[in-house]
Amino acid sequence: MNKINKGLFGLTGKAKESLIQKAIEKRSARDAQAEADTARRAPSGARVPVSDDLCRFDKLPGYKDLMVQRLAADQLNISNPFFRLHEGTASATSVIDGRECINFSSYNYLELSGHPRVSQAAKDAIDQYGTSVSASRPVSGERPVQQELEQALAALHGTEDAVVFVSGHATNVTSIGYLFGPRDLVLHDALIHNSVLQGIQLSGAFRLSFPHNDWQALERMLEQRRHEFERVLIVVEGIYSMDGDHPDLPKFIELKRRHRAFLMVDEAHSIGVMGERGHGIAEHYGVAGGAVDIWMGTLSKTMAGCGGYIAGEQALIDHLKFSAPGFLYSVGMPAPMAAASLEAIRVMQEEPQRVRQLCERSRYFLARAREQGLDTGLSRGYSVVPVLCGSSIKAVRLSNLLLEKGINVQPIVYPAVEEKLARLRFFISCAHTEAQIDATVAAIADALKQL
Ligand SMILES: Cc1ncc(COP(=O)(O)O)c(C=O)c1O
Repeated sequence: MNKINKGLFGLTGKAKESLIQKAIEKRSARDAQAEADTARRAPSGARVPVSDDLCRFDKLPGYKDLMVQRLAADQLNISNPFFRLHEGTASATSVIDGRECINFSSYNYLELSGHPRVSQAAKDAIDQYGTSVSASRPVSGERPVQQELEQALAALHGTEDAVVFVSGHATNVTSIGYLFGPRDLVLHDALIHNSVLQGIQLSGAFRLSFPHNDWQALERMLEQRRHEFERVLIVVEGIYSMDGDHPDLPKFIELKRRHRAFLMVDEAHSIGVMGERGHGIAEHYGVAGGAVDIWMGTLSKTMAGCGGYIAGEQALIDHLKFSAPGFLYSVGMPAPMAAASLEAIRVMQEEPQRVRQLCERSRYFLARAREQGLDTGLSRGYSVVPVLCGSSIKAVRLSNLLLEKGINVQPIVYPAVEEKLARLRFFISCAHTEAQIDATVAAIADALKQL
């Protein structure tokens, strides 16, 4: 560490920036190598020279690069934009460091986290059931509110049943990991969420990615490779969390039918956002719930809670409930969290104007940003609007400058996205006002000139 420190002193700002850039590139190359390595099996009988370094966490690949990046950022006086402390409910505004900011870093799309009815439902559930259910549902038993939530989710998606898990990420990992195996193929959009990739890795299935939203490329892959595998799963998202665009769902449904594959849609960012009543991408396209085999969603975003769910036909849900390790061997959803999400769904259904307003405000943000010449990438104006910056350093600097101007937005840097696609990512809430959006877009344009 000291050695690194000494090496940095005396460097010009440009040299330090280039050092950070190099660390990022090194990490990117190493990630690509690791991906290639996992595809190769270690040669049998090869001996690995065992040294003390292999017993130290600070020698793990990546840690040193992280330290170099941190140190160089300190030297450049770039403060860390991550782990900012919010002192209250984070919605369209949030208090950070004692100061109220316009906030674009929460998935509280319909302003339901912090809604009095939702908070009250959680408090009542604590009084009745306590804060934890203390074991898995098969072992510790059910709470009525867990079942009511699952019924409400199934109704939202127009499916026979649903099952909730305590983590959205783990929902994808355990469901894909359990349902598919080494004789199967999983085809996924190139921009699919990490949790899906982890699930595929766990399953041992063969994995292929198709270019973003390109159903024609997917069709060619299915024509060429379908016959080599038993089961085939296609995975897409309802709204892509980094880019704010969506797939042409009917085309994917048609393909999965023709090629006898399963289709899974991750609705983490589209439930509560797409469709007149917020029922998601199926409602947007006028597609029946049964047309998609596996609906996945999270409770941590629109639904003001925590956890994830799978909705689909009875056989799928029963199978997951009785066998998926992430359900069977993991604690059940705490009653206050289940009650919060259930109440959030009820408020959403009683007040569809929230969904309409979210849509209007998102489109307003997108239109204003484009007028200012900002690069909003692929965004279609549904709740997620990126502003592309060109590099991780620029994205971090822009985020810090905006915070100084009373606007909180997170930078998305490598490895979450490709380095040249580093960005600020704006999550719009139905409670953002047009005045807040105008002020924000003007501040971005201003800050960009300062950089
Ligand atoms: C598309 C997608 N799927 C799954 C998840 C995981 O959900 P959670 O954060 O609720 O665990 C996320 C999280 O942001 C996501 O964006």
